[in-house]
Amino acid sequence: MLSDAIQHALSEQIKREFSSAYVYLAMTAYFEDTNFPGFAKWTRLQYEEEISHGMRLFDFVHARGGRAAVHGVDRPASDFDGPLDVFTKALAQELSVTKSIYGLYELAQEEKDYGTQIELQWFITEQIEEEKIFDEIIQTLNLAGDNRAALLLLDRQLGERKLEEAAPR
Ligand code: FEO
Repeated sequence: MLSDAIQHALSEQIKREFSSAYVYLAMTAYFEDTNFPGFAKWTRLQYEEEISHGMRLFDFVHARGGRAAVHGVDRPASDFDGPLDVFTKALAQELSVTKSIYGLYELAQEEKDYGTQIELQWFITEQIEEEKIFDEIIQTLNLAGDNRAALLLLDRQLGERKLEEAAPR
């Protein structure tokens, strides 16, 4: 069984994952509108990954005999100033998600909820991977600068991304 505090915190995290999904959906709309189809595909897949993260936690709450609260998601920003601005904001988004997962993990430690700690370890590993990927993209975008040919090449490369499902529990 989940404690009330953990159940509440997990529901908040579910909301954050779905809010993240909406952040990436807004970024996808921006890239579609500005004719970067590869970046748009990449952020769309990120949207789908975030949905799978939210659903993974949703299923975890119910597997532990709890009931997830379904909150409204936050309205994402929709104005961006080019691909570098988008991915810089995306990294900031991921850093804030990492922080909230660490807070959740600390709560699970305080409550001696070992099952939730194990579940959250998957998310901690995932955040390390996501931060690394965003950082690499930002570095490449910094190198590309305003070079349109370099940006189009990166757009094509990122468009080759395949969906990675959240690993099944
Ligand atoms: Fe589910 Fe990218 O945090």
